Amino acid sequence: MAVGQKAPANVAGMLTGRDFLSLHDFSPAEVHGLVGLALAYKRDAATVPAPLAGRSVVLIFLKPSTRTRVSFEVAVASLGGHPVYMQGGEMQLARGETIGDTGRVLSQLTDAIVVRAFAHRDVEELAEAASVPVVNALTDLLHPSQALADLLTLHERMGRLAGLRLAYVGDGNNVCHSLCFAAAQTGIHLRVACPRAYQPADQVLVAARADARTTGGRIDVLEDAREAVEGADAVYTDAWVSMGFEAGADARRRALVPYQVNAALMSLAAPHAIFLHDLPAHRGEEVTDEVMDGAQSAVFTQAGNRLPAAKAILSAVLGV
Ligand code: CP
Ligand code: NVA
Repeated sequence: MAVGQKAPANVAGMLTGRDFLSLHDFSPAEVHGLVGLALAYKRDAATVPAPLAGRSVVLIFLKPSTRTRVSFEVAVASLGGHPVYMQGGEMQLARGETIGDTGRVLSQLTDAIVVRAFAHRDVEELAEAASVPVVNALTDLLHPSQALADLLTLHERMGRLAGLRLAYVGDGNNVCHSLCFAAAQTGIHLRVACPRAYQPADQVLVAARADARTTGGRIDVLEDAREAVEGADAVYTDAWVSMGFEAGADARRRALVPYQVNAALMSLAAPHAIFLHDLPAHRGEEVTDEVMDGAQSAVFTQAGNRLPAAKAILSAVLGV
């Protein structure tokens, strides 16, 4: 499907046929609608029985995955549809078939394509060529299905999104980029703390800040982790070395040492603050065991929320 246009509010039926490539492609009302739908799935209140009966969804993974693959595969099956999992290496893509031709062919055979890839542009090209909805299951640039689960987790734990103070500490990567859009679309005040060399991409900050103009959201980028975490309602971190960024890993790890989320850093957040991580965690690097396993950690609830988020995305774009 073609990308880019911002559709009107009211998620029920309004996202049918749309791609889910970036939260930036949606209006604030649509993002809230998706969070509400995910919440309904979490509460088991989205009651249409087997809405995907007779439909199939292909899941293409060009990078490893535990949470995203399982949540989308279980989501399709539990909505009554048929998931087809393909590892990139076993596809003709690996022998040179173009991403566009892959999208055209899979559109003849399935009802939606979920894809985890390296270059974000590849997923955009797939979406441009495909006539069925394409869902971004992580690229080097963005991880929007994770961000939807993160919004669900924040909403559940804090009872609201607008005005929440969220600190992201670490590498300004794909997860951070999608959090920038999530914050912008929902009125969250996001403070990102990164070393100068690993800050989020300017193009993302410009677009997210533009989205935030109508929501009251804010995105501040700092270098001081302590300043970012001070008084925060939630503290979030992610891997220091993302998949596909292994070159220069040692320099990245060295630069990020002051950004470890440990008990001392968490103590600067609000007393009710929660700790978030998209996982997998690298215990002893970006986060310590005491924080991962501590009373403030919401990381396993957050991982569990990938399933209702996946159901919400699939049912919205498939119009069921
Ligand atoms: N958080 C996340 O996307 O995890 P996986 O890489 O295991 O899918
Ligand atoms: N930033 C990480 C997220 C993994 C779920 C990566 O891209 O490897």
